Amino acid sequence: MPSVLITGSNRGLGLEFARQYAAAGWRVFATCRNPAEAADLRAIADRHPQVSLHALDVTDAASVSACATELAGQALDLLLLNSAWLAPQRGQRLDGLDWQFFARSFEVNATGPMRVLERFLPLVERGGQKKIVFLGSAASSNGLLRPPVNLYAYRASKAATHLLARSLALDLAPRGVHVGLVNPGLADTRGLLALGPDDKPPEDMAPIVALVRAGVIQLITAEEAVRGMIRVIDRLDASSAGQFINYDGSVLPW
Ligand SMILES: NC(=O)c1ccc[n+]([C@@H]2O[C@H](COP(=O)([O-])OP(=O)(O)OC[C@H]3O[C@@H](n4cnc5c(N)ncnc54)[C@H](OP(=O)(O)O)[C@@H]3O)[C@@H](O)[C@H]2O)c1
Repeated sequence: MPSVLITGSNRGLGLEFARQYAAAGWRVFATCRNPAEAADLRAIADRHPQVSLHALDVTDAASVSACATELAGQALDLLLLNSAWLAPQRGQRLDGLDWQFFARSFEVNATGPMRVLERFLPLVERGGQKKIVFLGSAASSNGLLRPPVNLYAYRASKAATHLLARSLALDLAPRGVHVGLVNPGLADTRGLLALGPDDKPPEDMAPIVALVRAGVIQLITAEEAVRGMIRVIDRLDASSAGQFINYDGSVLPW
């Protein structure tokens, strides 16, 4: 039975990864900040006995250490670094930058995954597949950057994640560990696809909803995004490690 540890698996894409890997028969170590409040994740574990919940806050060294100690002795086929923080739009524009948003974005999105990776690498090296996958973002690709430019803290912190993933792919290749970076596409983790044409979107999502309604961008479901990313992760090997790969399998520019 292959095994995966997922960060931020209580909602959004992390929850969907837990659901799909559990349904495929994987041993799932589903981590999140507050397992006691993770009702949707608990429901998955109730249906699949090979799913267990574990507390893990990627910004808290003591929490990461406690989880690594709890799971010491396990082998991981896949370490899935999914958790992230998308700070509110307000505070991420040039006319009103919030420096606490900047600091926290880097802490959650770049430092956090690296901290988890450092502690869990021995478990991955004991696993059969030896894969580590970061969730990247097309919004942080230099090659894809177009106006309107916004989300300064999120884009910059995820760009740091991208560089970490690429550096680690080179650094860990000689040890037989494949490090990947995947982009989910624009996946609906906020219930936007359920909005009717006259429904008012949440303030923070209004710009995205306007573009979706104008047909400029297309939202996909979390289910579709994760199904595609799992296919990409299944194929991850020495030749695709270090590439930035979209959920549909296409290679994206850095
Ligand atoms: N959805 C998209 O269209 C899209 C596009 C590009 C990239 N991505 C990337 O895909 C990944 C998942 O996105 P999403 O839309 O599912 O995000 P999301 O719905 O905002 O969920 C974020 C997850 O990260 C967790 N998290 C936040 N801070 C954490 C911390 N300090 N320690 C541990 N977990 C923490 C959250 O837990 P709490 O509930 O405790 O806050 C939550 O489970 C992210 O890396 C994101 O950058 C998403």
